[in-house]
Amino acid sequence: MERSTESARAASPRRYLMCRPTHFDVTYSINPWMDPSKPTSAEVGLAQWEELHDTFVELGHEVQLIEPVPGLPDMVFAANGAIVIDNKVLVARFRHSQRVDESAAYLEWFSRGGWSEVRQAEYVNEGEGDFLFAGGEILAGSGFRSDLRSHDEVSEFFGRPVVTLTLVDPRFYHLDTALSVLADGEIMYNRAAFSPESQSVLAERFPDAILADRADAVTFGLNALSDGRNVILPQQAVGLAAQLRERGYHPVGADLTELLKAGGSVKCCTLELRG
Ligand code: ARG
Repeated sequence: MERSTESARAASPRRYLMCRPTHFDVTYSINPWMDPSKPTSAEVGLAQWEELHDTFVELGHEVQLIEPVPGLPDMVFAANGAIVIDNKVLVARFRHSQRVDESAAYLEWFSRGGWSEVRQAEYVNEGEGDFLFAGGEILAGSGFRSDLRSHDEVSEFFGRPVVTLTLVDPRFYHLDTALSVLADGEIMYNRAAFSPESQSVLAERFPDAILADRADAVTFGLNALSDGRNVILPQQAVGLAAQLRERGYHPVGADLTELLKAGGSVKCCTLELRG
């Protein structure tokens, strides 16, 4: 029996913020993917990013851009810049010194107006890297980057419940490398990336979730972005794509292998601006 059909899924237009990887490079290492001795190509990174950008536009989404700052090579990972829900903006506070200056660029960008409230987080908080909006509640990661205290801060600021999840595998150091929200109440995730307690929380809340196998997880297949119907994910994650198709989603593969050398992919490059 068919569980659902593709036509049952509806895409809704989104507004994204992205940052062109003009200054992309791997010059330091703050996660296990980053090896500064390995060659990287800003040109290839830029071409892959352009394709992702164009994919969003072709799918009918609006993409806004923040100007890249020289000396901040990780700024391409716009997901980390803030959390934006209900037109309210909580700008990130980064854990590592190499990224700390990105916050000023985001504060400046959001200060241009249109938001009901903008302020910077008090506790270390790496934006949508660790905070994923899942309908009513916010799924929040900790263990490597965002401070546990930031979970309460986010809950208070947005007036929404937060579900704390603990990450345990350093390769999946941000929540958005281990879990992706597909639609209200629907997620896909990599069980092994979470503590036993968090695995139980996820199993109970999302009994029908799509589970990623190891091979798909290490291609960053969970670093995906859904508009309710189209799920843009690394094209190497073929197992996840098949499971998505079975559930009535439309997987759209993207090649971001160059950016993976910095430990990021589709979702990391994209901050959703929720009005
Ligand atoms: N090199 C960056 C870091 O380690 C990659 C960030 C990836 N972003 C994400 N949303 N997971 O901070």
